[in-house]
Amino acid sequence: MKEKVFYLNGEFVPESAAKVSVLDSGFNAGDGVYDVTRTFAHRPFKLREHTQRLFRSLCYTRIDCGMSLEEMEAATAQVLERNLALLKENDDYALWQVVSRGVRSSMGNRVIGPATVAIYCVNVNFREFARHYIEGVPVVIPSTRRIPPQCLESKAKVTNKMNHVIAGFEAHQVDPRAIPLMLDIDGNISESSAHNFFLVIDGALCTPTNRNILDGITRSTISSLAAELGIPVVEANFTPYDVYNAAEAFLASTSPTILPIRTLNSVKIGKQVPGPLTLRLIKAWKREPISWPKP
Ligand SMILES: Cc1ncc(COP(=O)(O)O)c(C=O)c1O
Repeated sequence: MKEKVFYLNGEFVPESAAKVSVLDSGFNAGDGVYDVTRTFAHRPFKLREHTQRLFRSLCYTRIDCGMSLEEMEAATAQVLERNLALLKENDDYALWQVVSRGVRSSMGNRVIGPATVAIYCVNVNFREFARHYIEGVPVVIPSTRRIPPQCLESKAKVTNKMNHVIAGFEAHQVDPRAIPLMLDIDGNISESSAHNFFLVIDGALCTPTNRNILDGITRSTISSLAAELGIPVVEANFTPYDVYNAAEAFLASTSPTILPIRTLNSVKIGKQVPGPLTLRLIKAWKREPISWPKP
């Protein structure tokens, strides 16, 4: 099979040649940021918004990627372009932009840089979540809490994912198919290890405030779609009690978009999966235009 082509530090190289040093501080310390854009029907969706968020994460972590936003966006589009021939008709890519602070000196631990910049594409693993659209996904609240923004700003998409990884292990010990739904330090629902969270209460679409979560691009797309459909959107604090009593609940993230939730801690949520409001949003999403390349 022909190899994919990845971008690494200014060059386009075959996947097997895209190697990073063991001294890279991304590897040693999770000292980096990333973002992931999905394609729909082989066209990137909201690449500009994802690249803008990448640059906000870079700003917060004081990493200089050595490229402008436009250059990063163009290199990402190039990665897609160079790998389109390998994509089957019904497949799509997740386009990863990953930046670490760079390589540490072996003569001491100081990062001497420059930043390591990698852009690559991974096939969206539809098999992983396809059945969840019909059956709904089980979610479990792990004992591990979401790191509070006083310790690490949750709006920044950082490569240190240990908080989420531990939460995932805890959920999988309860149910191997479960996704962890993390509470914040005050006991309010925050988000999953890789998705934002929505619930439906009295016909309103509710979601935690952006205080303790990644400001998801899928989340904001869903809120806009809801507004267009005349569905009220409420951002507030919610506890597990609110979820047990909700009419519907779902997760939201770039690759799967909207994933209906079947149970929270084995308690069934709502009467049907997906719920009627969730279905309206899924249908509305399908009508969402993918404008690429830009006019
Ligand atoms: C912790 C976390 N929350 C939420 C999301 C959803 O964000 P987006 O919709 O921008 O993919 C992600 C995406 O990977 C995530 O890692």
